[in-house]
Amino acid sequence: PLVKELFGLSDLEEAVRAKFGLRKVVIVPGDSDESDDVKRELGRAGSRVLGQSLSPGDVVAVMGGTTMARMAAHFKVSAPLADNWFVPARGGLGESVDYQANTIASELAKRTGARYRMLHVPDHLSEEAYQTIMLEPNVREVVDMIRSARIVVHGIGEAVTMARRRKLDPETIAELLKDGALAEAFGYYFDRDGRVVHRMATAGLRLEDIEAAETVIGLAGGRSKGEAIAAVMRFGHDDVLVTDEAAAEEALRHS
Ligand code: G3H
Repeated sequence: PLVKELFGLSDLEEAVRAKFGLRKVVIVPGDSDESDDVKRELGRAGSRVLGQSLSPGDVVAVMGGTTMARMAAHFKVSAPLADNWFVPARGGLGESVDYQANTIASELAKRTGARYRMLHVPDHLSEEAYQTIMLEPNVREVVDMIRSARIVVHGIGEAVTMARRRKLDPETIAELLKDGALAEAFGYYFDRDGRVVHRMATAGLRLEDIEAAETVIGLAGGRSKGEAIAAVMRFGHDDVLVTDEAAAEEALRHS
């Protein structure tokens, strides 16, 4: 394709960075849709970027997903992070346990000697259940910590894929489609312009906490996610994007 002929990988990084107004973009070669090796490299690149972003005392809120799990599996530090906390950005989103934010936070902490907290509440709560659960001191304490995170790391998915994986009911899925949802990140659904088209009361990170975080790192690859990545970058609160070549080309095509 034209993009490849014109650009080397670092030119592509700069093109994506400038297009979406990001602080930093890291691109690994290839397409994670087609090769598991590429997805592993994407996880590695994500873990390096997170390692470089960490300062003593930081609370890091992490989302779930298979890409985030790859990142956690490769996370290494040269000295124990006794002064850092890893927390899940959201409660349970109906994902299989290997890919839940709780699992990823605990894995990162175990690999680094950092501390972690779990949030054992389902994310999709009625307004009433939400108000009640937030009165629990244990829950409140973890939630306050999550909302104070300085660093947020999250995956990005296609809206319908994620809605089905999280077993949203068919009416909600139909509504999402009607509203033009094409991307999902942080448990929120976005349309092509990066507008949030679906939100619920959450015990986890709210949009205002994402806006307030100092470093928000998006980690997603594969050509199939290019358009979704562009939508979430248009939302405009990511600082760093770690992706692969195919997704980057596709995101630029949709920009
Ligand atoms: O929010 C998006 C999803 O967590 C992405 O999940 O990395 O398994 O595609 P994935």
